[in-house]
Amino acid sequence: MAKKLVEVKNLQKHFDVGKGKKLKAVNDISFDVYEGETLGLVGESGCGKSTTGRTIIRLYEATSGEVVFRGDNVHKIKGKKVKEFNRRMQMIFQDPYASLNPRMAVEDIIAEGMDIHGIYQGKERTKRVHELLETVGLNSEHATRFPHEFSGGQRQRIGIARALAVDPEFIIADEPISALDVSIQAQVVNLMKDLQKDHGLTYLFIAHDLSMVKHISDRIGVMYLGGLMELADSEDLYKEPLHPYTKALLSSIPIPDPQKEEERKRTILSGDVPSPIDPPSGCPFRTRCPDAMDVCAKERPVWQEARPNHYVACHLYE
Ligand SMILES: Nc1ncnc2c1ncn2[C@@H]1O[C@H](COP(=O)(O)OP(=O)(O)OP(=O)(O)O)[C@@H](O)[C@H]1O
Ligand SMILES: [Mg+2]
Repeated sequence: MAKKLVEVKNLQKHFDVGKGKKLKAVNDISFDVYEGETLGLVGESGCGKSTTGRTIIRLYEATSGEVVFRGDNVHKIKGKKVKEFNRRMQMIFQDPYASLNPRMAVEDIIAEGMDIHGIYQGKERTKRVHELLETVGLNSEHATRFPHEFSGGQRQRIGIARALAVDPEFIIADEPISALDVSIQAQVVNLMKDLQKDHGLTYLFIAHDLSMVKHISDRIGVMYLGGLMELADSEDLYKEPLHPYTKALLSSIPIPDPQKEEERKRTILSGDVPSPIDPPSGCPFRTRCPDAMDVCAKERPVWQEARPNHYVACHLYE
C-alpha cells in the first residue's frame, strides 16, 4: 500500500451566519490521500467540496478535527515550516476568471510563488516561466499578456502553471474543468494526468459530477450536505455503489447505448437539498433517500469500511 500523504480526521468547518446560527459546510469527514494518487471528490453544488479543499490547504481554519500532511498537523504548523508547507501544497481554483489578478501580467502571476519562496530569480525566473507556459501548452509570448486576453481554458492552464511553479507535492484542483467547454475539458484533464506522471504529483480533484472524475481518479469520495457518504476505488464505486446517494448520482449519467439507457433502472432524487444550517437529524440524506428506515432519522450512520477499501456511512450496511 502506498504511503499516506494527507490524513483528514473528523474535519469540521462551520461558518457563523448570524443570530447564533452555524452553517455546517463540512461536518465531520475523515479520509486519507495516498502518495501519487488522484482522489476525486464529488457531490452536488453546496455540499462542501470547496470548503473541504480550502480547509485542507488552510485558507480556512478548521472548526475542529485535523489535517495531517506528512506527519504535521496543518493547522498547527508554525514558524519556518509554514512557508515550506505553503510551497508543498498548492490549489487550482474553481473559477479561472476570478482567480487570476487582472492587473498582473501572466509572468508575474506564475512567478508569484517563486518570488515569495525566493526560488528562481532574474534570468532563471523568466526561463522558468517560459518553460512552465510550454509545459501547460501555452508559449513564451503569453508571458507579458494579461488575464483578460485569454480564454477560460487558457486561464485554467495559467492557474496550473502557477501551481506547478513552486514544485509542489500535493495539488488541490477545485473543479478545474467545470467552467470550460466540453471539448477543452478532456485536454485539461489529459494535461493534468501527464503532469502527474512527470512530476510525481498527488491530486485531490474536486468535481460536480461523476462522469469526468472517473477518467482521472484512482479513488472517489462522494459528499452530501457536508458529510462523506462513500469512498472507494473508482472501479468499485461505478460497479458496486453502496450508498443510495451514490446510486442516484450514477443513474443520472446518461449511457451512450440507447438500448441499455432504455432498460436501466433509474433512481430519481425527489425534493431539494436541505439547508446545512438546519440539517436533518440522523443521516443527512434520509429526507431524499428511497431506502430510508426509522433508524435513519434517529442516528447518524457511522463512517466505516463496509468492504475492503470501500467506506460508506449508511444504516443499510451496519
Ligand atoms: N465563506 C462562507 N461563509 C458562509 N457560508 C459559506 C462560505 N463558503 C461556503 N459557504 C456555504 O457552505 C456550503 C458549502 O459550500 P462550498 O462552496 O464548499 O460547496 P461546493 O460543494 O464547493 O459547491 P459548488 O459545487 O457549487 O462549488 C454552502 O452552503 C455555502 O453556501
Ligand atoms: Mg465549490
